[in-house]
Amino acid sequence: MIYTILGLQWGDEGKAKVIDYLAKDFDYVVRFQGGANAGHTVWVGNKKFVFHLIPSGILNKLVKVVIANGVVVDLDEFIKEVELISSETNIKDRIFLSNKAHIVMPYHKLMDKARENKSSKAIGTTLRGIGPAYADKADRLGIRIADLFISPEELKEKIARAFEVKEFLFRNYYNIYDYPSVNQMFDELLKIKDKIEPFVSDTERLLQKAHKDRKNILFEGAQGSLLDVDFGTYPFVTSSNTIAASAFTGSGIGASSFANIIGIAKAYITRVGEGPFPTELKDETGELLRKAGNEFGATTGRPRRCGWFDAVATRYSANINGVMEIFLTKLDVLDSLESISVCTGYKLDGGKTIDYFPSTVETIAKVKPVYTKVEGWKEKTFGIREYNKLPVNAKKYIELLEILIGKKISYISTGYERDDVIVR
Ligand code: GDP
Ligand code: IMO
Ligand code: MG
Repeated sequence: MIYTILGLQWGDEGKAKVIDYLAKDFDYVVRFQGGANAGHTVWVGNKKFVFHLIPSGILNKLVKVVIANGVVVDLDEFIKEVELISSETNIKDRIFLSNKAHIVMPYHKLMDKARENKSSKAIGTTLRGIGPAYADKADRLGIRIADLFISPEELKEKIARAFEVKEFLFRNYYNIYDYPSVNQMFDELLKIKDKIEPFVSDTERLLQKAHKDRKNILFEGAQGSLLDVDFGTYPFVTSSNTIAASAFTGSGIGASSFANIIGIAKAYITRVGEGPFPTELKDETGELLRKAGNEFGATTGRPRRCGWFDAVATRYSANINGVMEIFLTKLDVLDSLESISVCTGYKLDGGKTIDYFPSTVETIAKVKPVYTKVEGWKEKTFGIREYNKLPVNAKKYIELLEILIGKKISYISTGYERDDVIVR
């Protein structure tokens, strides 16, 4: 059985918590895109774990985790997380890294920073080198994990070739002179190679065999569908496909294999970084959501922008992913509100109202959300684990979202703890 789990908004929907919760029924949890730009928080008891690269399923002791070919890997971050997790749980034969995954090189991070600093239209990236690493992959200049194991001369030549134009740009366009030399980068890779080697394999073969052996595999999306490089609010997106279809190309599992796709939606919406956000609240309600939801970036610590649930955007995401059911998270964050608004349409500049997500950020930036306002429940739902124990207005809210998205809300998360979940 293969499941894919992904975020339907601009990231930070609570994917890690959901994956940690579901992982008990799976043998493998797989990351298939993105890199250390992801920041996933899991609470087990009163212990907090933040992962950027290693799938959060690792906290379930029987689960094996895979960083598949579609991920761009920051090797230092990988080793850091391996060391952190080793002090917590046994990791022997539980972490697999694809030899086809691309390496985030020091010049990718430098380039990310240089571009963000220089541009008058910064994206607000996580500065983790993600965009430049994917650009090199498409430009056929990437260094892959497998390249650590070719001859040293060939590896050095690849680094030199990839670095040539970047060095020129650093010196002559960005006025950056402080960067590692090809020799230094080569030496660093050789130093880390032995630490990486025990984890490296053909993960597509591993996963294909696992599937044939009827193992249960969970694909863990990073970022959110509205940050997808094709379907998101381009150019204010991340540089990979974040939607469910990306699990195929990002792992080497065949398209016919998927049993279920679960979309995760937060009961309100957040966004980190720049780009249009129609339902953003820049007032005290936005502040309340940020505080109650502890909405600060797990990777960069930046305050997340907060706003009302956007049914137009979430329905769009559910459809491009082929989502079969929804996992609604952070319902409890709305507990204290007198009333709650849900965006059901966008009013365009000329006055026309539409119920679909526009294709350009220029249009999205100008739409005015059309809201349906519902009464809040003003009771604690935090930690409730049975649907019939929810206040009537909370149930009404969930049922309204379900109708607007057009998909069943099968699970509801009411707290950050692993088992604060209602199964409907
Ligand atoms: P991800 O990137 O989608 O994995 O999400 P993050 O981990 O970046 O952000 C989600 C945050 O919300 C984390 O701090 C979680 O511990 C927390 N969280 C997840 N689900 C719930 C929930 O239902 N209620 C509350 N109050 N917090 C939650
Ligand atoms: P998780 O997996 C929220 C955003 C950045 C920026 C844009 C591009 O925790 O949900 P990048 O560094 O990827 O080139 O930045 O994407 N972004 C995220 N926002 N959660 C994330 O990950 C994100 N990863 C990237 O803020 O707007
Ligand atoms: Mg996150």
